This record gives sequence, structure tokens and C-alpha cells, in this order.
Amino acid sequence: MFEHKPRPEWIAAEEFLSTAVVHPDEAVQQAIHAAAEAGMPAIEVAPNAGKLLKLLVQLSGARRILEIGTLAGYSTIWMGRGLPRNGTLVTCEYLPQHAEVAWANIDAAGLGEKVEIRLGPALDTLAALEEEEREPFDFIFIDADKQNNSRYLDWAVRLGRPGAAVVLDNTIWEGAVLDPDIDPVNAPGIIEALKLLGAHPRLDATVIQTVGSKGWDGFALARILPQNNK
Ligand code: SAH
Ligand code: DHB
Ligand code: MG
Repeated sequence: MFEHKPRPEWIAAEEFLSTAVVHPDEAVQQAIHAAAEAGMPAIEVAPNAGKLLKLLVQLSGARRILEIGTLAGYSTIWMGRGLPRNGTLVTCEYLPQHAEVAWANIDAAGLGEKVEIRLGPALDTLAALEEEEREPFDFIFIDADKQNNSRYLDWAVRLGRPGAAVVLDNTIWEGAVLDPDIDPVNAPGIIEALKLLGAHPRLDATVIQTVGSKGWDGFALARILPQNNK
């Protein structure tokens, strides 16, 4: 697996911010413990990023969330915390072991009624969701296999409503966006998606760089434009 390289002072600053400002609740912290116990990789979003997702859900008034890449449900729980009473979240995961741990965490967080985990390759699930003719999503978080990032962005535009928010995780990847040789497996998909974000007629986007426990990385935030581009 690709090695992320956090500096000790980035980790310390993140811990300070998490304790002083972010205040992760018991359930999100427990999700991290359960993931570690199950031997899953610690590749969930950082606490301050999780809180940002929750706040973005609330600020945008999202009621229907789509997540691509569940892992142990850490980001799922953060976003779920931002949903109103009648809100729903669909999250895509292809590894049954991950989905099992995630379900236990999500249920323990009291979100079992709102969250649906869809098991299988995300591209299959996304096609199935379109077939089901559901109401469009208000908020889409893309955080799975980086090779398919561009495909996930296209699906976000198809399944999201005009004005919906799209968040794409992992946009710097230790600088691999500048030097793909650092990670020939994942860098091309990340770079391709960034170019698509900048060029897509239905997306208006920015990218924020981050440092912290997950190393030097970042995320993109985009808004889905209506067909006529306004
Ligand atoms: N969003 C999570 C982290 C997701 S890690 C959090 O922040 O807490 C990426 C997850 O995507 C892993 O669990 C991996 O198994 C899953 N994944 C990778 N490729 C996938 C695919 N093609 N379809 C569905 N899930 C996939
Ligand atoms: C990895 C994947 C992620 O989505 C992430 O946020 C950090 C690391 C990884 O596969 O290494
Ligand atoms: Mg990620």
C-alpha cells in the first residue's frame, strides 16, 4: 500500500485541534478502535475533515447523501450526524469484511435507520441506483479506489441534483499529483479526476491542500451546475 508521510508536528497540531475544537463523539472514536481491532487500514478521513463533512452537510441542507468508499463507516457516521431526521445516506463498499465492521459501527452510532450499505463494486451500485430512479442526491462524497475517480465524478453528476455538493478526497497524495512516479498505481486516477473537475461543464470546483495525521493531501469541493451552466 502507498505510504503516507505525516510529520510529527502535523499529527500533534491535528490532535490539539481535534481536542480543542472538533470534539469527535464516542461513536466516531469507537469506529476507529473497531477498525483497528479488525486489522483494517487507518485510511479514514482525519477528525477535522470528518467534522467538515458534517458541517458541509448541514450548511448545504442536504437530505440525501451518497458515499463511495465506506471502510469502517467513520466518514459515514460524521456525515450521518449532519442529516436531518428524515435524511438518508447510501454508502458503497465492495469488501464484505469492511461492510460488516462498518454496519456495526453505524448501528452503534444510532444511524442504522438512515444508512444503507450497498455491497459490491461501486460502479455496479451506481448503475443500479440510476435504474432505481431514486430522488437525486444532495451531497456526494467520493473516497474509494482512486483509479475510478473520474468515473465516480461522472456518476456524481448523473445522480446528483443541480446545486448538489461533491467532495472528492485525496487530491495531493504526498505530491504524487506533481510526480506520478511516487505512486504509479493511484496518481494517474487522481490527476485525471482533477483535470476533469477543472474542465467538466457541469462542475464548478476548488481544491484545498491539507496536512495532518494522513500526511500531505487534500480534498476537492465542487457544485453541480444545472444543464444550462448557471
Ligand atoms: N470514506 C472512508 C474511507 C474509505 S477507504 C472514511 O473516511 O472513513 C476506501 C474504501 O473503498 C475501502 O473500504 C475499500 O474497500 C473501498 N473500495 C475500494 N474500491 C472499491 C470499489 N471499486 N467499489 C466499492 N468499494 C471500494
Ligand atoms: C488511502 C486511501 C484514502 O482514501 C485515504 O484518505 C488515505 C489513504 C490509501 O489507500 O492509502
Ligand atoms: Mg480518502
